[in-house]
Amino acid sequence: MLAAAPLLVLAGLSTGVLGTSYFLTDNIRGSQFLSAFTHQAIPDPTHGRVNYVSQATALERNLTYASGDTLILRADSTQVLDPFGPGRDSFRLQSNKVYNEHVAVWNIRHMPQGCGTTNGNDCYTNSSTFGCGVIAPRATSFGPSFNAIGGGWYAMERSGTYIKIWHWQRDDTNLPMDIRIGSPLIDTSNWGTPVADFPDTDCNMATYFSPQRMIINLTFCGDLAGHNYPSDGCSGICEGEYIIGDYVNQNPSAFEDAYFDIAWLKIYQ
Ligand SMILES: *[C@@H]1O[C@H](CO)[C@@H](O)[C@H](O)[C@H]1NC(C)=O
Ligand SMILES: *[C@@H]1O[C@H](CO)[C@@H](O)[C@H](O)[C@H]1NC(C)=O
Ligand SMILES: *[C@@H]1O[C@H](CO)[C@@H](O)[C@H](O)[C@H]1NC(C)=O
Repeated sequence: MLAAAPLLVLAGLSTGVLGTSYFLTDNIRGSQFLSAFTHQAIPDPTHGRVNYVSQATALERNLTYASGDTLILRADSTQVLDPFGPGRDSFRLQSNKVYNEHVAVWNIRHMPQGCGTTNGNDCYTNSSTFGCGVIAPRATSFGPSFNAIGGGWYAMERSGTYIKIWHWQRDDTNLPMDIRIGSPLIDTSNWGTPVADFPDTDCNMATYFSPQRMIINLTFCGDLAGHNYPSDGCSGICEGEYIIGDYVNQNPSAFEDAYFDIAWLKIYQ
């Protein structure tokens, strides 16, 4: 009896460590994003009305600004575009590292809002065309309501058998203590109910088992945003990379709020 008790405790501990505990491996903030991610000046795989620029161009034009605990990524909001020329200058960043089983926690102050922007999602991909969008149930998960309260945190856990996503708004009293205090060791089993949960029974985990890179990007219209566009209360209609009514071309100032302000990204493995 006496000998059995410590064994039980150990067994309990190791189950936790193997299952849902992770150590901090990457703590990225400010200018560290510039070496951890590559700006990809490539054609938009989703055919948006967008022109992804290089890091040099983005920095020179202050579309990308990285300093202290701030990373700003924004689209151009000054240029009227030739309807037959390239789309609006914007950004597509891809992580230089690939990740297998891991947890990524994003502390985001502001996400892009405005006509034709898709709701910000942290897309993980191994190919240039695959993304996993997130539809979060609360209004404060994205857009104006998210930004009005100073943003919040997004976390995504990719284990061998599931993907879970959490969102906490800035003043959320349920923000897990390990995130709040910046612990190097986290345990997602204490994080409460995720906003999205994809067990391997629901989706093809084989797709996710390969190493993935993180993508942060902003496109306008295109395959995904187009369908939401009219309901955003904007004039014009997104139709693939064309905008009937020419909104993206003609109204640069409508994109002043089309930016990310990211405080940090932490990866745990
Ligand atoms: C670049 O953008 C940052 C963040 O918005 C701003 O604080 C800074 O003043 C801008 N720099 C210039 C030269 O406009
Ligand atoms: C994508 O996954 C394949 C294996 O499925 C791998 O060979 C390739 O290197 C991965 N590409 C990237 C960009 O991680
Ligand atoms: C980023 O690009 C992917 C396709 O590569 C697309 O699915 C997603 O909607 C884009 N995200 C934003 C916020 O524009």
